[in-house]
Amino acid sequence: MLPTGPSDFVRLDGGAVSLVLDVRGPSPVTLYWGTGLDAGADGSMLDLLAAREDAPCSPLVAAPLALTPLAGQAFPGRPGLLTHGEGRRWATYTRIVDVRRPDPGAVEIDSVDEANGVALTHHLRLDRHGMLVGWTQVRNDGPGLLDLEWLSAPVLALPPHLVEWVTFEGRWAGEYRMQTQPRVMGAVVKENRRGRTSHDAFPGILAQAAGAGDQAGEVYGLHLGWSGNHRLYADTLSDGRAYVQMGELFMPGEMRLAPGQIYRTPVLYAACSLMGRNGISACFHAHVRNRPDHARVRAKPRPVHYNTWEAVYFDHDPALLLKLVDAAADIGVERFVLDDGWFRGRRSDRAGLGDWFVDEGIYPDGLHPIVARVRERGMEFGLWVEPEMVNPDSDLYRAHPDWVLGTPPAPQLVFRNQLVLDASRVDVQDYLFARLDALLRDYPISYLKWDMNRDISHPGGVDGVAAAHAHVEGLYALLRRVRDAYPDVEIESCSAGGGRADLGILSLTDRVWASDSNDALDRLTIQRGLSTFLPPELIGSHVGPTDCHITGRRVAMATRVATAMFFHLGLEVNLLGLSDAERMELAAGISLHKHYRPLLHDGRLIRLDRPANEEAFGILAADGAQALYSFTLLSEPSGYFAGRLRLAGLDPAARYHVRLLWPDAAQKSPLFNSLRDGVLFTGSTLTEAGLQLPRLHPQSALILGVVRVPAG
Ligand code: DGJ
Repeated sequence: MLPTGPSDFVRLDGGAVSLVLDVRGPSPVTLYWGTGLDAGADGSMLDLLAAREDAPCSPLVAAPLALTPLAGQAFPGRPGLLTHGEGRRWATYTRIVDVRRPDPGAVEIDSVDEANGVALTHHLRLDRHGMLVGWTQVRNDGPGLLDLEWLSAPVLALPPHLVEWVTFEGRWAGEYRMQTQPRVMGAVVKENRRGRTSHDAFPGILAQAAGAGDQAGEVYGLHLGWSGNHRLYADTLSDGRAYVQMGELFMPGEMRLAPGQIYRTPVLYAACSLMGRNGISACFHAHVRNRPDHARVRAKPRPVHYNTWEAVYFDHDPALLLKLVDAAADIGVERFVLDDGWFRGRRSDRAGLGDWFVDEGIYPDGLHPIVARVRERGMEFGLWVEPEMVNPDSDLYRAHPDWVLGTPPAPQLVFRNQLVLDASRVDVQDYLFARLDALLRDYPISYLKWDMNRDISHPGGVDGVAAAHAHVEGLYALLRRVRDAYPDVEIESCSAGGGRADLGILSLTDRVWASDSNDALDRLTIQRGLSTFLPPELIGSHVGPTDCHITGRRVAMATRVATAMFFHLGLEVNLLGLSDAERMELAAGISLHKHYRPLLHDGRLIRLDRPANEEAFGILAADGAQALYSFTLLSEPSGYFAGRLRLAGLDPAARYHVRLLWPDAAQKSPLFNSLRDGVLFTGSTLTEAGLQLPRLHPQSALILGVVRVPAG
């Protein structure tokens, strides 16, 4: 522990970002959060720079926009803490009692309200990539129960020149669409009561300055790492001050603290950038890649998946599956994943969930023959499970109907014929662990696809108290238990596609399934949104069937491959139904992915600002020696040609060898035809003049490989 810092101000610096807090008053306040300040900048300068006279019709001294804005300070926006004990103890007014510096990158501040028996702790850490990570904690210091209605993670003041909010909305099979709106007086509110991170209200937001885009401009980005109900409240006060609150959304009475009990918010992740949205992603990706747990992901190349879902659905036929195993191995797949349909009674989505025993009717010898063939063919084996769920038509439900969440007398609401087990119950956790443990002992499983296909709409626990929070904690505990017992088993978080993808669940899992839509064009939008926060190697992306099962759209194999190969690549198509030409193209795509996988899963993602009918991005090696660029034409340009493709991120003074890597086909454009063999250009010609794009059919994709030529 370092000695306590100067008593008036606290300054953290990291990754060209500075945070300065004022800790003189009753509660800690952000004086500055943004681009790194010079060494001489101090708190008193920033305080003076922010000084303003009293506003008309306002208190003489404006209530501070503290890390937890308080009702007792008459904060005119949403208080960061909403609490009471028997209708009292609500007007919290603290004083700072301790400021600790656990190390130079972090600060912890305690403040207490003795009269109301409430103690707050704020924890903030600024890492070397400029990522600010923090949580807020409340302790009930009073004699009676304290009802907690809301506690925001640390509330950071945003600079006033940010003019837009960007939020991430969606639905099943259409997640993470970015929606931009002007920042005006008042609040943008996103509330999620679905019991999982949700498809429609991802807990993330950007605030950006005028003219900011992917490649340039000032942008702030915030994300809450929590896999349950949450609230995002982005507000602008009439005096111009702006802030974002993010925290758990509690059901009435859900969070009541006994004397001495504490509640800590989920972790808030916050970044700021002068390099547009790409700078935000760079910060999030670097932070995630440097989390200790990410070493699991880095330990070996991300194996190329084959997933059975869209090939066979519930029609499990071991003979056919063996053929699929061979077909997958033949084209370079490295992990074969048996999706839904393998366990007792599971012939459709109407029955079986909860009975995690291999169905002897379909698999008389268990999964052994399939697993053996998978292993013989040099692949790993993965298995789909949906542990938190139960079908009423299952032995588990017949034995333990009391294990499900519900709010009687309200009728159970069935989604996909299934109910939710109360994962906070120890007996439920023990049963689920025992079943997973048995499977993991019986078979050499290297990966679990952990699914969750419904909302937790009626989260009443055994005593009638809302258990949405407890369910998520129970899920986390179960994941931790599985991971501790089987550290080498990777787990994917799937929730009817991308319904549970956040940095909370990703501290216990190894990848997320971004969407049930394998439509390559939809995927470009979905992947753009999600990769704002998550690095590509944590996002599963599969080459689906020729006619997408969700949208019916027919997209060429070359484009499907080009779209999936930049992420954690997989296939989800009936390989036995492909023509030889399609199979060869797929195999070539897998081999290209494997060749560039170290770059794809470690490089810097740079999205290019393009017109709406195009999508383009690059992945650059950390040392700048190599890059891949992807371009997709979504629909016809208005003129004959799309514009120039300017390859951002290169050193203008260096020389680069540029090659068309994909597709492997003759080109009419003289430029692109010569790029099939490769051409030398200088960096500035590529970044400034750019390549004239060829005439392409809509829904076509190109991948360029760029290698820096050593000087001299
Ligand atoms: C939803 C998932 O997102 C799909 O990929 C598939 O695993 C199905 N569930 C299986 O029921």
